[in-house]
Amino acid sequence: MSKAKIKVLTVDDVAETRDNIKRCLQYEEDIIIIGECENGKEAIRKAQELAPDIILMDINMPVIDGIEATETITLNHPNIAVIIMSVQGEQEYLKNSMTAGAKEYIIKPFSISELSNTIRKVHKVEEKRRKFNKQTPENKVTPLKNKTEIISLFSTKGGVGKTTIGANLAVSIAGKTNRDVVLVDLDLQFGDLSIMFNINPRNSITEVAHNIEELDESLLEKYLVKHDSGVKILPAPNRPEYAELLTIDHIEKIIDILKKNYDYIIIDTPPFFNDINLSILDMSDQVLLIANLELPTIKNARLSMEVFDSLHHKEKVKLIVNRSSEELGIQKIDLESTLEWFAVSNIPTDNRLVVSSVNKGTPFVVSHSTSKISHNIYNLAEIVIKNWGTQKDLKSNKKKNFISKIFNTK
Ligand SMILES: Nc1ncnc2c1ncn2[C@@H]1O[C@H](COP(=O)(O)OP(=O)(O)OP(=O)(O)O)[C@@H](O)[C@H]1O
Ligand SMILES: [Mg+2]
Repeated sequence: MSKAKIKVLTVDDVAETRDNIKRCLQYEEDIIIIGECENGKEAIRKAQELAPDIILMDINMPVIDGIEATETITLNHPNIAVIIMSVQGEQEYLKNSMTAGAKEYIIKPFSISELSNTIRKVHKVEEKRRKFNKQTPENKVTPLKNKTEIISLFSTKGGVGKTTIGANLAVSIAGKTNRDVVLVDLDLQFGDLSIMFNINPRNSITEVAHNIEELDESLLEKYLVKHDSGVKILPAPNRPEYAELLTIDHIEKIIDILKKNYDYIIIDTPPFFNDINLSILDMSDQVLLIANLELPTIKNARLSMEVFDSLHHKEKVKLIVNRSSEELGIQKIDLESTLEWFAVSNIPTDNRLVVSSVNKGTPFVVSHSTSKISHNIYNLAEIVIKNWGTQKDLKSNKKKNFISKIFNTK
C-alpha cells in the first residue's frame, strides 16, 4: 500500500506567494496542497473542513492574523501542525507564533528543498508524537469489560455542569482507553454540546429520526460528527421545537445501533424527569448525578435519589460534586448526609478556564491538560472506566481513605 501524502494548506494574503509554494511543491510525490486561504479567518474554517496535516501560515494578514489563527487552530485540532512563514527581522512575531502553538518556522524567501524538508521533518515528528501519546502506559487504563458501557449525566436542577463535565469526561475516556466513544446530546431543546466542541453540524438527531425506518450502523455513522479527540458526537436538534419529533422508540433504536460500534455511550440530558430521561435511566450502566453545594440543588438531588430508588436504579448512581471549591457555607459532607450517598468526585470551580474553553470550543482537558480541574476530570474518567466507587466501597473506611488519597476527593 502506498503511503498517504502529507496534506498541506497554504495561508497567505499574497497570491504570488501561494502560487510560488504551489510551484515549489508540485513535483514532490509525498506532499499535496489541498487548499489555499487568504487570511486567518478562512484558515480556521478550512482547517476544520479539510483536516490538513500541515498548515503553512503567513503572519501579517487581514481579518485575522497568522498568530491568532495558529492559536485557534492548534487548540482545536491538536493533530494539525502549523509552520510559520516569516520574513527576516520578524523575531518578536516569531516568538509569539511559537507560543501560539506553531511547530516550526521558515524564513521567506525559501528554496524548494528548504520548504519540502521542513514539511517532511515536522510531519515525521508529529507522527512520532502521536504514536508515543497512544502508547504512554501511565496514561492508559484498561476497561473492565468488553461490552458497551452506557453512562448518563443527570441533575434535576439546570446549570449544574452536566454538559461541561460530560464533554470533558468523554474526551478523557477516549484518551485513556483508546476505545470508541460517542457523546449523545439528548438535551433535545437546548443541547449545547456542539458549541462545546466548536462544531457546526449540518445534521442532528432530528434527521436521524426522519430516517429511523432505514437506520442502521452505516447510516447513523453519517450523522455523527468526529472531534479531533476521537470522540464522535450526535448533536441535539437545531431548534427547540424539533425536540417534540423524537420519541422513546427513536432514542431506544439509536442507542441500540450505537451499541454495535461503540464501547462508551455518554448521554447528556435536560434537567428534569420525562419519559425519555426515564428510559435513558433504564438503559444506563452508570448514572452520574451532578450536584453543587447550593440548597435548591441539594433538595432536588435528594428528590432525584428517591426517584432512582423507587425505580431500583439507585445502585447505578455516582454522585459528583461540581464547583466544590466554592465557599458557600455548605460542605460536601452535608450533601452526602442529606442524600445518604457518598460522592466519588469533586470538580473544583475554575471560572476563567471553563468559560474560555467553552467560548473557544475546546474542552479544557485538551487546552489546559495540566490544570487542577482537568486533573480531577481524568480521575473521574478512571473511576468511570473501572466502575469504582460503589457505595459499598465508599462505606468501607479503608477504601474511602484509599480513594480520597488516590483521587483527591476529600
Ligand atoms: N467547575 C466549574 N467551574 C466554573 N464554571 C463552571 C463549572 N462547571 C460548569 N460551569 C459553568 O456553569 C454553567 C452551566 O454549566 P453546564 O452548561 O455544563 O450545566 P448543565 O447542567 O449542562 O446546564 P443545563 O441544565 O442548562 O443543560 C456554564 O456557564 C459553565 O461554563
Ligand atoms: Mg447542559
